Amino acid sequence: MIRWTMREAVFKPTLVEQAHIQPGHHVLDLGCGTATLMILIKQRHPEAQVIGLDGDPTVLALARTKLADAAVTIPLDQGLAFELPYPSQVFDRILTSLLLHHLTRDDKRRTLREAFRVLRPGGELHIADFGPPHHAGMAAVSWIMRWLEEASDNMKGLLPDLVREAGFKAVEETARYSTAFGTLSLMKAENPRRSESV
Ligand SMILES: C[S@@+](CC[C@H](N)C(=O)[O-])C[C@H]1O[C@@H](n2cnc3c(N)ncnc32)[C@H](O)[C@@H]1O
Repeated sequence: MIRWTMREAVFKPTLVEQAHIQPGHHVLDLGCGTATLMILIKQRHPEAQVIGLDGDPTVLALARTKLADAAVTIPLDQGLAFELPYPSQVFDRILTSLLLHHLTRDDKRRTLREAFRVLRPGGELHIADFGPPHHAGMAAVSWIMRWLEEASDNMKGLLPDLVREAGFKAVEETARYSTAFGTLSLMKAENPRRSESV
């Protein structure tokens, strides 16, 4: 579904590329779904330590099958994005694709605070999710999403402010794509090094 409607083959490689993952980096795929993004990360960066987390055990079972088919080994954790089962400051990168528009505004805030907590100072958050329509065609196709309470925050362009509110700096949109459900926006944000945050 995501492959056919969301230009997955275009935006996921771009998200991985913009994350500038280095050998030895600890990388979390937050809301990893059936593992497409993680497989891409691991194939491009075999020396990175990648972990996937998702709340749905059925989805994780599909992810395990896809990982086995791709001969890729990645640990998977079942857990909630807004209560991450990890200590503070352990990840260098968090990538998250099409998760945030599923969450209520309060859960978006909690999730972004958790992402900030588990990222090391200097670590980066890379997001692919719906954004406000960037042309009239996208305004027309995204009307359904506006009626969904959780996704309407994205459509109203609130995501960058919610990311800043969680403590992130250097929040920027890096790309926009037209999709079957509206504008898909890529973003990056940094957990500032402590000397930069004072
Ligand atoms: C649209 S899918 C995207 C999956 C994958 N990231 C991708 O881009 O293909 C959204 C995923 O977020 C997961 N999810 C939704 N709410 C969650 C939460 N509160 N905590 C963890 N995972 C959640 C769902 O189980 C689902 O796998």
